[in-house]
Amino acid sequence: MMKDLFDAAFAAMQKTHSPYSQFPVGAAIRTSDGRIYSGCNIEVISYPEGWCAETTALGHFVMGGGGTITDIAVVAEKKAKCTPCGGCRQRLAEFAGPDARLHLCDNNGIVETLTMKDIFPYGFEADVLGKGAA
Ligand code: THU
Repeated sequence: MMKDLFDAAFAAMQKTHSPYSQFPVGAAIRTSDGRIYSGCNIEVISYPEGWCAETTALGHFVMGGGGTITDIAVVAEKKAKCTPCGGCRQRLAEFAGPDARLHLCDNNGIVETLTMKDIFPYGFEADVLGKGAA
């Protein structure tokens, strides 16, 4: 059932623009109504201005209409079980609830499944600012 999500992340990784790190990453997001949005990491010569695969996938998710995120898959061909960076954990938590599943992969498929609350407990939340997600 999750093979399609892995396949989407793996296919996205093939589109990486990572000439500086040479570290391709792909990510894919599934919504409760079955849509899948994917993304690759994109780097620029001004190094800090690049961004992660998870962030590209989130951009596609938002532009595609958003929804309830049930599953996220991340794959990096040079690192099995590559986990989202700290910034991406914050970004993912903005849109994915604590029970959304995070699938860590190697080049053959999913090898470990966690939840958002496993990898991002005690995150900075909107209620701190007296706001909910608009
Ligand atoms: N990267 C991602 O795209 N996602 C992660 O989860 C970890 C890191 C990217 C950022 C950069 O383009 C490259 O991997 C090396 O850090």
